Amino acid sequence: MTQLTQQATWQALAQHSKTLPHMRELFSNDPKRFDNMSAKACGLLLDYSKNRASNETLSLLFKLAKESQLESKIKAMFAGDIINNTEQRAVLHTALRAPAEQVINLDGNNIVAEVQQTLAKMGEFVNSVTSGDWLGYTGKTITDVVSIGIGGSFLGPKIVSQALRPYWTGKLNCHFVANVDGTSITEKLKNLDPQTTLFVMSSKSFGTQETLTNTLTAKEWFFKQGAAQADVAKHFVAVSSNVEKATEFGIDANNIFPMWDWVGGRYSLWSAIGLPIALLIGMDNFRELLAGAHAMDEHFANTPLENNMPVIMGLFSLWYGNFFNAQSHVVLTYDHYLRGLPAYFQQLDMESNGKGVTLNGTDVDYSTGPIIWGGEGTNGQHAYHQLLHQGTALVPADFIMPLNSHNPVGEHHVQLASNCFGQTQALMQGRTYDEALAELSHSKLDDEQKQLIAKHKVMPGNKPSNTILMDKLTPTTLGSLIALYEHRTFVQGAIWQINSFDQWGVELGKLLGNDVLDRLTADKQANELDSSSNSLINLFRQGKI
Ligand code: F6P
Repeated sequence: MTQLTQQATWQALAQHSKTLPHMRELFSNDPKRFDNMSAKACGLLLDYSKNRASNETLSLLFKLAKESQLESKIKAMFAGDIINNTEQRAVLHTALRAPAEQVINLDGNNIVAEVQQTLAKMGEFVNSVTSGDWLGYTGKTITDVVSIGIGGSFLGPKIVSQALRPYWTGKLNCHFVANVDGTSITEKLKNLDPQTTLFVMSSKSFGTQETLTNTLTAKEWFFKQGAAQADVAKHFVAVSSNVEKATEFGIDANNIFPMWDWVGGRYSLWSAIGLPIALLIGMDNFRELLAGAHAMDEHFANTPLENNMPVIMGLFSLWYGNFFNAQSHVVLTYDHYLRGLPAYFQQLDMESNGKGVTLNGTDVDYSTGPIIWGGEGTNGQHAYHQLLHQGTALVPADFIMPLNSHNPVGEHHVQLASNCFGQTQALMQGRTYDEALAELSHSKLDDEQKQLIAKHKVMPGNKPSNTILMDKLTPTTLGSLIALYEHRTFVQGAIWQINSFDQWGVELGKLLGNDVLDRLTADKQANELDSSSNSLINLFRQGKI
């Protein structure tokens, strides 16, 4: 396989990147630029016109995608081919949201049937808890759910529940515990009643230290409050692909919701990992979430690359990372309910594409996954937008905003929109020195000071952004939006020829952490590691610096 950077199209893109005019010029040359560079699908509108791109840019990027066999790689994923080559697994989170009548055969089994069985089990459980049929060990109904999990077993449930707060049935409160820091679970358990609390323990591997430790602490708390071992079945359920270990841990076999090894942790919210979401918003809304994601799957699988939203977004992200040295990508959600989404996309993208070797183990000689960060607008404008406008780093941005708020109070939403759109405009057009100087023409500053301040007020502009709009934030549009980013991540990994679905990089830290744990608790000082590690361990052992 020719090294990507040796390919003619890659080299043509590199040359082309030096020839593009400022976006101001691109817009003035084409009054219909928005019409030509926007796409609508699955209840979302993508405005990608504020990108450093001409028609030639787009055709080169799509050519690169085609030469990277992107279309056949997309088909391979949906077909259940073993594309996660290092773990010898299929990648079929799309099957989790496939319609019941669809057939996807894997190893001779129609996995959609298994998915539907689990969804039915989830539905029965959710209805039982929210209807009050499910009673605790003293006969009381459940009022609080504590979701214990980390990474994809935490971020999906937490952030989707937060995003869909307007859809909560009101029957349950939910608390999320992830970190092994005892403060997290202690703070969450403080005001809970074991008689009315349900623990959902989520761990695909059932081997994650944080989740096991937090669940053990929860059980100890449960017993300390007067409950007995026999009562565990009424207050602890588990979601895992390791049913055997979950059973050994003491979870009643009937309370274990299975998941499969062809679902990556960061792609798992659509599985029973999403149980906390379903408990909060109800099974009907959870199925709407799945339907929205499925609609985006269909779009991704069946739309020509040139109109394919995940392809367009993935290609632009690659364009800036590989040809303009952009090291990060910012996601700005102009909706308070979506404030957690950047953190979700961090794991999704960085754990998928933070890789340094290709599928066949060759070191890459090009950048791969960028640093994903962000937060809610308009808060970011008062925190880090300065850097976006005038910093030396190029940071491509995604702005996400529903056109209609769930809370239409006063002038808030129109002001939110004015900020969102104003920011994308300012990033694109910037402010020239002459414009800055003209703005100072009536100030009392002398000419020398005006010239100095004008220099400081210049904004280069030409800062790229995508804007994603939806009529309203609903389970369906949220499902489509998250699936859009899942496939955007896939597109980049496919072109970079990396495995986006394993995560060997997280193993070493865990292994060394276990060794350090032994030294922290040993009966002698640490002295066999590097001087820093020895010292840090011994300082912890003495409990003071
Ligand atoms: O960070 C590594 C990782 O395996 C993630 O991919 C995963 O989402 C998280 O840890 C939790 O894993 P598990 O669900 O197996 O506890």
